[in-house]
Amino acid sequence: TRHVALIPAAGVGARMAAGSPKQYLPIGAKPMLRHTVDAFLSSPLIAHTYVVVSADDPFIDAVLPDASDGASRVTVLRCGGATRMESIRNGLHAVRAALADTDHVLVHDAARPGLNAALIERLITETGDHPAGGLLALPVVDTVKRRGDDGIATVDRANLWLAQTPQMFTYALLCRALDAATDPAAITDDASAVQALGLAPRLVEGHPRNLKVTLPSDIRIAEMYLAADAS
Ligand code: C5P
Repeated sequence: TRHVALIPAAGVGARMAAGSPKQYLPIGAKPMLRHTVDAFLSSPLIAHTYVVVSADDPFIDAVLPDASDGASRVTVLRCGGATRMESIRNGLHAVRAALADTDHVLVHDAARPGLNAALIERLITETGDHPAGGLLALPVVDTVKRRGDDGIATVDRANLWLAQTPQMFTYALLCRALDAATDPAAITDDASAVQALGLAPRLVEGHPRNLKVTLPSDIRIAEMYLAADAS
């Protein structure tokens, strides 16, 4: 089976308070989304990368690689939706003819530019053909509190993980899970939609460098990891 990447990049990045959508903000020498796409282009295990943007996105063409550095392995899908989940669902339908049900789709947020080939390989190798797929995630290191009506409780962190992306499922399973999801707002990642079918995706240890850039200060952290790679 083949492995392809699907990057939802149709968000507006409201929490970043910047002039352009956050996936286009510079991180070092390149826009965030270009780092994210280049991570997949650098992996020999990824056959093709699809990027979902909104129909009127004016930035994407200037950001993608040209023919000399991998353009033939990237396709832009101008079918973004109102939510992350809708963007992914639209993207999956758009590539229907190009993929087999058994092909694996790695869904990865544009806002995680620190991904690299080693993490992609770990996810693919450790998930293998697990019927429920798998995702990168980080064990929780902080002590965790839950606030309730009558005070706070300390939650045992031993079994707690923070979900990252990529999250990998067969094309057929991902379509089935997202089509079955009735409340897009409650589904904040693809694994949640698969879990709602009663399945348990495999947790594969990710890395702090694969942080989601959400606040302006996160840009500096991502820059630090990516600059260390280049030196
Ligand atoms: O805003 P947040 O960081 O949670 O978005 C996660 C990912 O989903 C980003 O890559 C963003 O571009 C994408 N997204 C999308 N379509 C939307 C909203 C978000 O593709 N309508």
